[in-house]
Amino acid sequence: RRAFLGAGVAFGGMALLAPSRTGAARAPFDVSAFKPTQEVTLTAGEMELKLLGPEGPATRILAYDGTPFRTLRMPRGTRLKATFVNGIDEGSTLHFHGIRMPNEFDGVPTLTQPLVQPGGRFVHLLPLDDPGTFFFHPHCDETGQAGKGLAGVLIVEDSRDPVFDAEHVLCLKDWRLKEDGSYLPLSEPDGASKAGTFGATRTVNGAASVELKAPAGGHVRLRILNIDSTRIMDIGVEGGEAWLIAVDGHALPPVRLDDLPDGIWRMGPAQRIDLDIRMPADGSPVTVGDYRAADIYQFATLTAAGKVGKSRKGPLALPKAELPKPALKQATRFSFTLQQATDQAVKDIALPPDDPLAKALIDSLCVGSTTYWGIQSESWPTGTRRNLPPPLARMEEGASYVVEIKNETRFPHPVHLHGHAFEVMSSSLGRLPRHFADTVLVQPGEAVETAFVAARGDWVFHCHILEHMETGMMGWFRVV
Ligand code: C2O
Ligand code: CU
Repeated sequence: RRAFLGAGVAFGGMALLAPSRTGAARAPFDVSAFKPTQEVTLTAGEMELKLLGPEGPATRILAYDGTPFRTLRMPRGTRLKATFVNGIDEGSTLHFHGIRMPNEFDGVPTLTQPLVQPGGRFVHLLPLDDPGTFFFHPHCDETGQAGKGLAGVLIVEDSRDPVFDAEHVLCLKDWRLKEDGSYLPLSEPDGASKAGTFGATRTVNGAASVELKAPAGGHVRLRILNIDSTRIMDIGVEGGEAWLIAVDGHALPPVRLDDLPDGIWRMGPAQRIDLDIRMPADGSPVTVGDYRAADIYQFATLTAAGKVGKSRKGPLALPKAELPKPALKQATRFSFTLQQATDQAVKDIALPPDDPLAKALIDSLCVGSTTYWGIQSESWPTGTRRNLPPPLARMEEGASYVVEIKNETRFPHPVHLHGHAFEVMSSSLGRLPRHFADTVLVQPGEAVETAFVAARGDWVFHCHILEHMETGMMGWFRVV
């Protein structure tokens, strides 16, 4: 087994094997200047978990290191050397979602690195300069791999953060299960071409719900991650005061949840929030739930345990995010439209289904076999589309950009840009406070304006409803 594991070694910094069709031309990252302060190995593999209750059958899930949603905590400033080992029986890669990093460690097969074959490994060198709540997941056959649970949490701690009386991490994920614990098809055409294929078994940290402790009158920091493949959730809190203090890990001036439309924060797949919840002084409990669906899903109850010495009003704001600030006046503008392929807005560049080059590319990108979606009349290769689309934009390192994302489809899309934190400037529906994020939910008919300072590399830009991404709703920016 060991010898086999060594066979696929590819060291990130030297493995610039993007095919020449992308014409990769970038200065390689200086590996020798990177001095790791922490090292971890993340081995993807199968394990059993009882998702249908303690008396129910077990399900074969995928996890890193045999720990569902393995959670890493590192201080800000860490230089992390993370070795991904592929212990599952299909190709995979590891992507650290939301981390600003050298492009060659971004984990996108074909574009930034070769696919890691079963038994292979890949070394990621990551400077963890932004504090916050992040996560990591495969970037290959995500409907299949992330759909079976392959994901982990990365918390970058900031010593300047206020001290909370309690802190809890909540990973929300639905599963598509039959009664015997085996899987229903993780994707179905009717879902992939519309709002996605939903799971009916809803979980938080792998359980139906959790009961958490916090001192009466105290402040609880909840880090909530939507790691579902499909579901958009309306996160609300009952029984206590709550403030939104960070989005996708990045601090924003605290917003009282009750002051947001409907008293909820709408969160698509891959989005995270940090809440500051003040427990009632009288010891009564607080519930946290998804209030979007007709049947509300209350996933966490905070019950009082003990009392705080000194009561603090709140909110407990996090230190201001220190991110590159886009220069709006000088910024170059782009506008991208999210489209349904059935609108015939997406160019038909299909090749005969037996084209071997098309098949090789599709296999190395690990995407679906049908195209339902596009961005700006282009689709990420699926089915028989042989080539990567040209970059949606060519940008200059260090320059500022305003990117408008327009949704012309009938479904909402959480749109994610790799390797950057962008500032969400405005929404045509007027529903979003200004904040930094790495993923933004764009509603049907909505246009959202984002702004950022471009970092060098080839970065994908895609919908994080995994079936949408795998059926065409992905493009990329080239920054030189
Ligand atoms: Cu969570 Cu392409 O990313
Ligand atoms: Cu989508």
